[in-house]
Amino acid sequence: MTQLPGLLDTEAIRKDFPILDRQVHDGQKLVYLDNAATSQKPRQVLDALNEYYERYNANVHRGVHVLAEEATALYEGARDKVASFINAPSRDEVIFTKNASESLNLVANMLGWAEEPYRVDHETEIVITEMEHHSNIVPWQLLSQRTGAKLKWFGLTDDGRLDLSNIDEIITEKTKIVSFVLVSNILGTVNPVEAIVRRAQEVGALVCIDASQAAPHMPLDVQSLQADFVAFTGHKMCGPTGIGVLWGRQELLEDLPPFLGGGEMIETVSMHSSTYAPAPHKFEAGTPPIAQAVGLGAAIDYLSAIGMDKILAHEHALTEYAVKRLTEVPDLRIIGPTTAEDRGAAISFTLGDIHPHDVGQVLDEQGIAVRVGHHCARPVCLRYGIPATTRASFYLYSTPAEIDALVDGLEHVRNFFG
Ligand code: ALA
Repeated sequence: MTQLPGLLDTEAIRKDFPILDRQVHDGQKLVYLDNAATSQKPRQVLDALNEYYERYNANVHRGVHVLAEEATALYEGARDKVASFINAPSRDEVIFTKNASESLNLVANMLGWAEEPYRVDHETEIVITEMEHHSNIVPWQLLSQRTGAKLKWFGLTDDGRLDLSNIDEIITEKTKIVSFVLVSNILGTVNPVEAIVRRAQEVGALVCIDASQAAPHMPLDVQSLQADFVAFTGHKMCGPTGIGVLWGRQELLEDLPPFLGGGEMIETVSMHSSTYAPAPHKFEAGTPPIAQAVGLGAAIDYLSAIGMDKILAHEHALTEYAVKRLTEVPDLRIIGPTTAEDRGAAISFTLGDIHPHDVGQVLDEQGIAVRVGHHCARPVCLRYGIPATTRASFYLYSTPAEIDALVDGLEHVRNFFG
């Protein structure tokens, strides 16, 4: 068995994930390499969800009965866990949403309805990058169409990194917001936050970071990132679906207007007007994803007990090994950085002229789950002149043996297609 320095005790960890014991296609052992799409859930999270529904289920913030108080304590307790996980200065800066897309749409809409000095209008500019997930492109296109603001973006270098050579022309005095991904879901690139934030601060622009592919895999400290907003989702970090997070700086959350209106987000309502509750409740209209927040809290406990720095080291060792082994496969082209430095554990590639959907299907027949397509980052495929990629992505329970299985599986794909 291949041993690499820095690996976690995956034998013990995998016992927590019942699904990893599954067999598919009549007896093939499941090799789950689609973690960038969604991670599997440990028993501890499944138990927390069950326990919540079996013992505590009630609506939050509005009841005087025992269950309502206990459910509220669990929901708000999950907020505390998130705040501490990301080193937020205040728990009131943590807004629960349903996913990272909603978090990013929330930022775009806060700014869309804002007064000066935050207002985005036809005289201002919005900056994104060519490697964004559609969820960090489309909300800004919508905002640009609605307000007349100009949408600009950083292009990509041939090796899958951001081209910051013209940073001073892209981020200018007119820029109101710079929104970019910390770790690309398709290229795996880890972006240079500091350089971008420094330039944004120089011109007084706000910074929003999509940390969906970072929060599950590395220590995340919103204070050291020095951004104004950070968005991520729960289901990629061992939590359930239906729960996302938007962290925002307190004074911004106080100043910016709400996006969705409804119960829970108000202070008073008359037939003529309303006043709003303080953040974070101002941005959480309606019954929130209570069980999902509790599940996310359990996921955070689980990951923290292992240690995010150890998870990062594990994935780094696996990624280094995977890049080396994949590079040995004839006709395989990695789309993205080909070193293990400054890259996350999602590796996209093409295999000769075999269509990625065919690659994915033949791998699936061998029990190997990867994602194929444009990964909701179609501009990246356009940039590199390819219709799609095959993407393998690892997590804390992934093993070198699974990478070996992928490489053997790709050999089978090559033989199959001659
Ligand atoms: N954003 C997820 C992915 O990259 C769904 O696969």
